[in-house]
Parts: sequence; C-alpha cells; structure tokens
Amino acid sequence: MQIGVPLEIRAGERRVAATPETVKKLAALHSVFVQAGAGLSANIPDSEFEAAGAKIVEDAKALYAAAQLILKVRGLEASEFGLVRDDAILVGLLSPHEKEKMQTYSDRGLTAFALESIPRISRAQSMDVLSSQANIGGYKSVILAANAYGRFFPMLMTAAGTVKAARVLVLGVGVAGLQAIATAKRLGAVIEAFDVRPAVKEQVLSLGAKFVEVPLSEGEAAETSGGYAKEMSEDYKRKQAELIHARAIQSDIVITTALIPGRPAPVLLKEETVAAMKHGSVVVDMAVEFGGNCPLSEKDSVVEKHGVTLIGYSNLPAMMASDASALYARNMLNFINLLFEAKTGELKIDREDEIIAGTLISMNGELVKK
Ligand code: NAI
Repeated sequence: MQIGVPLEIRAGERRVAATPETVKKLAALHSVFVQAGAGLSANIPDSEFEAAGAKIVEDAKALYAAAQLILKVRGLEASEFGLVRDDAILVGLLSPHEKEKMQTYSDRGLTAFALESIPRISRAQSMDVLSSQANIGGYKSVILAANAYGRFFPMLMTAAGTVKAARVLVLGVGVAGLQAIATAKRLGAVIEAFDVRPAVKEQVLSLGAKFVEVPLSEGEAAETSGGYAKEMSEDYKRKQAELIHARAIQSDIVITTALIPGRPAPVLLKEETVAAMKHGSVVVDMAVEFGGNCPLSEKDSVVEKHGVTLIGYSNLPAMMASDASALYARNMLNFINLLFEAKTGELKIDREDEIIAGTLISMNGELVKK
C-alpha cells in the first residue's frame, strides 16, 4: 500500500497526521510518502520523516498522485478533491455531521473514514482522537485564560499583602473540562464545575473542584446510552441558567466546553450574565466551532465585551501542534492497523467490525452513512 501524508492546508491547521514514530512502523510494511514541509508547523523537519523511512515528495500534486491511503487531520479542501486518486482511501477528522460534505466524498468515489465517529468503547480507546485532542484543548484553554487574565491564579501571601486566588468556573466536564480543572488546579485556582451529567460529580470532586448542580426532575435523564449529554427540558434549562448566572458573576474565569453531538452547542453563558461578570474576567468558549456556549464569543477571535475578554479559538489543539500531532498520529496508526492484515499488510476492510462500521462514511462511492 502507498500511504500519503499531505501538508494540511485548512487555515490555522498546524497539525500533521503522522510523525516519524508512526511512519517508522508503517514503513515496515508499506511505502510512505510525506509532502515536503508537512510536519514543519509541528516542529518535524522533512529529514526526520526521511530518516524514519518516508519518501519526501515536493508538492500536493505528487503526494495525492501516489497516495492510495491518505492520512489527514482535516477533511479535503476543494483544491485537494481534484488531486486525489479515484481509488483513494481517506482517513481524518471529516466532520461527519455535515451531511453535504459527506456526499461529496461518496460522489468522488472515495472510501472515507471519519475519526470523530470512533465508538467510545474500551477497544477503541487508543484510537480516540476526540479524547486525545480535547485533553490538549482543555489544557490550552486554561493557559490562554491565565495569559489574558491580569491577575495571579494562586493565592499568595507576600510582604505587600495577600493576593486572592482566581476563581474558575468550568461548564461541561467531559474530557476537555476535566483537563481544564486539573490544569487550573495546578496553577492554584479555586474551581467550580457544572455538567448536566451527574455521573461526572465524583470525577470533579476527585480533582479538588466543587461540583455545582441542577437537580434533575423525576424521570429526567441527562445522558444517552453512549455516555453523551442530551438536550434538556425547558424547565431544566431555566434552572440551569439561574445557577450559572449566580456562579459566573462570582468567578474570574469561565471555561465552557459543553457539546451535544450532532446539535448546536447549548447556550450556557447568556449576555446578561457576561454583563454582570466582574470587569477583567475572562471567558474561553471551547464550543465556538459548534455555535458557542456564549453568544458573545466570536470564532477565532479574542473580543472584549462588557469589560470581559472572550476567547473563541476554534482549534486549540493546533495551537499545541507538536503534542497534538504526536497523539493524533498514534490514534491514527492504531485505527489504520484495523484496515490491514497484521502479518501481510494486505488491505481488508471488515465492515462487520464495530469501529470500522462506526467510522465508514463512504466506500467506493457508496454513501454508507446517510
Ligand atoms: P463532549 O465534548 O461531547 O461534551 C463536553 C461536556 O459537555 C460533556 O461532559 C457533556 O455532558 C457536557 N454538556 C453537554 N450539554 C451540557 C449542558 N447543557 N450543560 C452543561 N454541560 C453540558 O464530551 P466528551 O468529552 O467527548 O465526553 C463524552 C462522554 O464520553 C463522557 O461520558 C466521557 O466520560 C465519555 N468518554 C468515554 C471514553 C471511552 O470509554 N473510551 C473516552 C472519552 C470519553
């Protein structure tokens, strides 16, 4: 198999889908082609890919002409569609909820896998790109907040007097939220966290944060069988808005990570709440790509409204491209190993496999996920 690793061209994307570590493993059974400069923004020079066994090709045209299996971070841009081979297999973060985009992959005759749809089962943990990248995003959100906040995070007792610890509120405690709590804790902040899923309470407490909660009405469930959050009732949302308002106006930093798969992000931090927050407070809206948890945040911008700095970067993992690529590339390698016979390296796509079935968007032009 000829495996290709292109340079990502989506604006702001600095990650790369393979590293010398994963190329070395792939090159034992396959030919690996890496586009010149593909790893540079993740601090991987071409020479390191070459030393790992890859052949460096000059441009995207040559790369896509060679690649039977394309390892990508983001989906194909319009200019790339014309370059791919008719028999290509594409693996990456393809935004599977965008149905029209998925149609374009099948119209082009490609076999395409969306890594966001890897099921959250224990066998797939080593392939779970959403977790590996959300973990990085959660960390970076706190670093950005600390940088934008004009005060200390830890409580300090100095000869010039005492400095109060920053108060951080984390809304949505999945993988990103848990890492945000852990990172803010390391910096010495006092943390509160909220999630619709009561199941996360124990995890929040074990990280040394306080869990604030809205009691669920009788018979109301917050979680799907897959462990994801559900859209909540109007009554719940009203109580939730009151609770968040009360906690946010006491906080210095609010980090929001709340997502509901396949739906717009829930609005948690309303304009009136931001307007009532302390001057100099910071909000990091990690849900900005899916509409945002705060209507005032703006995608890929830092804005100041009502004296509050709102940070809306949509691709935090790309801001830590070296580690993000290292983890993503390992997830990718573990996933594509499923596509081959272990010993011979022969391609074998087993559509009965739960992980393959979960991620397969189109196969040889057939739209599998409608
Ligand atoms: P996510 O990125 O889909 O959402 C982030 C958080 O937002 C979730 O905790 C969700 O409950 C919360 N949320 C949604 N609506 C909300 C609202 N209105 N108010 C407050 N919070 C709200 O979540 P992520 O990080 O992808 O995790 C989803 C689930 O998958 C979790 O149960 C997690 O423990 C589980 N998981 C399982 C893994 C495995 O078994 N391999 C690996 C990673 C996660």
